[in-house]
Amino acid sequence: MQLPILLCASLAACGLAVGFNDVDKFRGREAPRAPRACKTFPGDLNWPSGSDWSRLNSSVAGALLRPLPPAAVCYLNSPAFDPARCSFLLQNAGRTTFYLDDPITVLTQWPQGNTCLAVRNSTGNCTQGGFPSYVVNATSVKQVEAAVKFARQNKIRLIIKNTGHDFVGRNTGAGALSIWTHYLKEFEFLPSYKQPGGGYRGSAARVGAGLQVYEAFAHAAKHNVTLPAASCLTVGSYGGWITGGGHSPLSSKFGLGVDQVLSLQVVTADGRSMTADPVTNPDLFFALRGGGGSTYGVITSAIVKAHPQINLTIAAFTFTVGASATQPGPDPTITNLTAFWAGFDAVFRFGVPTVDAGGYLWTNGIRLSNTSYTMQVRVQMPGLTPAETITFIQPLITSLNSLGIPLSNITPTTQIYSLQTGAIGGALGNGRFASRIFPRRAYTDPTLFAAAMTAARATVEDGYVFHGLNMAPTLRVAGFPAPAGVNPVWRDSVMHADVFDSTNMAGISDDAFRAAKRRLERHMDALRKATPGGGAYFNEADVQEPEWQDAFFGSNYGKLVSIKKKWDPEAVFWAPTTPGSEAWSVEGVDAEGIQTQNGRLCRV
Ligand SMILES: Cc1cc2nc3c(=O)[nH]c(=O)nc-3n(C[C@H](O)[C@H](O)[C@H](O)COP(=O)(O)OP(=O)(O)OC[C@H]3O[C@@H](n4cnc5c(N)ncnc54)[C@H](O)[C@@H]3O)c2cc1C
Ligand SMILES: *[C@@H]1O[C@H](CO)[C@@H](O)[C@H](O)[C@H]1NC(C)=O
Ligand SMILES: *[C@@H]1O[C@H](CO)[C@@H](O)[C@H](O)[C@H]1NC(C)=O
Ligand SMILES: *[C@@H]1O[C@H](CO)[C@@H](O)[C@H](O)[C@H]1NC(C)=O
Ligand SMILES: *[C@@H]1O[C@H](CO)[C@@H](O)[C@H](O)[C@H]1NC(C)=O
Ligand SMILES: *[C@@H]1O[C@H](CO)[C@@H](O)[C@H](O)[C@H]1NC(C)=O
Ligand SMILES: *[C@@H]1O[C@H](CO)[C@@H](O)[C@H](O)[C@H]1NC(C)=O
Ligand SMILES: *[C@@H]1O[C@H](CO)[C@@H](O)[C@H](O)[C@H]1NC(C)=O
Ligand SMILES: *[C@@H]1O[C@H](CO)[C@@H](O)[C@H](O)[C@H]1NC(C)=O
Repeated sequence: MQLPILLCASLAACGLAVGFNDVDKFRGREAPRAPRACKTFPGDLNWPSGSDWSRLNSSVAGALLRPLPPAAVCYLNSPAFDPARCSFLLQNAGRTTFYLDDPITVLTQWPQGNTCLAVRNSTGNCTQGGFPSYVVNATSVKQVEAAVKFARQNKIRLIIKNTGHDFVGRNTGAGALSIWTHYLKEFEFLPSYKQPGGGYRGSAARVGAGLQVYEAFAHAAKHNVTLPAASCLTVGSYGGWITGGGHSPLSSKFGLGVDQVLSLQVVTADGRSMTADPVTNPDLFFALRGGGGSTYGVITSAIVKAHPQINLTIAAFTFTVGASATQPGPDPTITNLTAFWAGFDAVFRFGVPTVDAGGYLWTNGIRLSNTSYTMQVRVQMPGLTPAETITFIQPLITSLNSLGIPLSNITPTTQIYSLQTGAIGGALGNGRFASRIFPRRAYTDPTLFAAAMTAARATVEDGYVFHGLNMAPTLRVAGFPAPAGVNPVWRDSVMHADVFDSTNMAGISDDAFRAAKRRLERHMDALRKATPGGGAYFNEADVQEPEWQDAFFGSNYGKLVSIKKKWDPEAVFWAPTTPGSEAWSVEGVDAEGIQTQNGRLCRV
């Protein structure tokens, strides 16, 4: 099996698996001229003129960019052709910050339309496809205000890109003006912050929307505090992560990303910078915390909780079933398939004790061949010492030993949470996946748990990677301020799991895509049936999630749509599967039923 590559170069932390690039699948499908109401598109009569764009450029102090797709350097007939630069893209760019510092690259490529993939000495045509036409490289609120006003007045599509990690293309769009928040990097420590309304007093930080996890951690370490953030060190801490939910190894201790936010500064559709907190514009404050990014406004900065310094201790082990057995140790191989799957269930069963002790249980079930499987496990315990962690996991190890899995000598590592390090890079991927949030009931009801485990096992046997993250971001651990727009099912959940498909979205034929979709749907239907009352995590999900409104937002959906309509009545902002997004769709590019952003955005 070809093990999928990772979008985040910090391999140890992320464990997110997605395929890669090869042939151009979506190229050449031009959006038809639609008679209905559409956003103004390049080539239209009322598309802004060169002098209009120059005026915008002046009003943003020269920060307007018109970037080519980076892989243009690989195309023989492009004026940008440069074989040395193309070699860099193919060989090294993914291990560097090249793509993260590129104004238009999105790490998951298919939403762009795969119109300019890096292929050595390509004889094809590289086109802009679903990449935006112009980008404002914002370093100030004023520039963001000017960009929003320009897009609204000219009725052109507006998108927001921060790091480009979004998995379904909420960060890209054909014919759009993009606001790139990557360089909004301010940081100010607020040792004794008092929230308006008095709900929170304590240490906090004012953070720019462009700070990435590793940058936020460096600031936190300097001030001896903890700023919870995504596991992948290059994700944006205060863009997509807080607006979509935001889980971390500290979720069972301090709640979700949405629970860290005390106040926001946001440029709304009228082009004005507003404060959103529990007292000022509380509806906007509610919606921006988990009701989806890219739809109510552009966050420029936030004030977030700064928790006391905490250590994260991780006990990591694997067990594998294969042709021959190995000696006891932290990574044994056994030959008994029944014991392997019983061990698989035992690990997940340990999810509830883990989350109830404030921990995060990270797992990957992976098929190595038809007769060999491996289970990777990391029990992550904030605030416990290694010795306490050994004691904590002993019941799990004992039960695995009694099944005939000779795990021993597990040595936890410990580290101050904010001092986590790893490779800082961003690689491209071209895969898709689906996910499910498991309510506690799916674990405590034995019939449901058995059905959930059968369904999870079936995904692994069928070649998917089943990536489990047990956590419990309850309202109790979330603390003030509640409520938030995030799907309420999170509050009584004990696991979020991703089912990664290794199908490469670039090389695939229409028939192969449909077959892959049906195959994944069958597995997801079984998982949904075993987890009634669950949902799916907006930020790590299938763009074709059935009844996504309910799956992503649950009982908050209606309220989120009304807040969207109030703050953005003209739909200046739009991104797929955000509240109210059903009113629009991208034309002409979804023949296979998959929504790319390579086309004109029109009212439905
Ligand atoms: C390798 C990898 C690991 C991940 N690990 C985790 C994890 O541990 N925990 C977790 O919860 N998630 C994780 N994610 C998912 C991640 O949280 C989402 O992809 C998130 O949306 C990324 O946000 P971003 O700002 O970095 O990326 P972008 O793709 O740039 O933006 C994501 C979305 O947010 C919008 N947005 C960005 N900035 C703003 C802003 N300032 N104002 C308004 N809207 C904005 C964008 O328009 C887009 O819709 C991971 C993703 C990847 C690829
Ligand atoms: C915007 O202005 C700057 C500075 O004058 C210039 O370098 C840049 O090329 C301009 N951008 C566009 C898209 O013309
Ligand atoms: C690609 O083109 C360059 C420049 O024309 C040439 O030097 C190189 O050998 C070509 N590489 C391949 C693999 O064809
Ligand atoms: C590339 O563009 C040229 C000029 O528009 C066109 O003649 C050619 O067919 C295109 N090639 C491909 C592979 O689409
Ligand atoms: C964007 O702006 C930042 C900050 O001014 C600058 O360092 C960076 O080079 C700019 N990026 C591009 C592609 O212009
Ligand atoms: C950092 O914070 C921890 C936890 O609050 C505390 O025990 C420790 O003394 C602090 N260290 C410094 C250098 O202030
Ligand atoms: C593995 O199983 C699949 C489907 O059950 C089958 O098509 C394939 O031939 C098997 N491969 C091997 C190497 O046995
Ligand atoms: C395989 O493991 C199961 C579960 O531990 C056990 O019941 C069974 O006896 C084992 N089979 C063999 C052949 O060891
Ligand atoms: C936290 O981890 C560090 C090692 O990174 C260790 O020196 C320190 O003693 C730990 N603190 C606690 C409270 O366990």
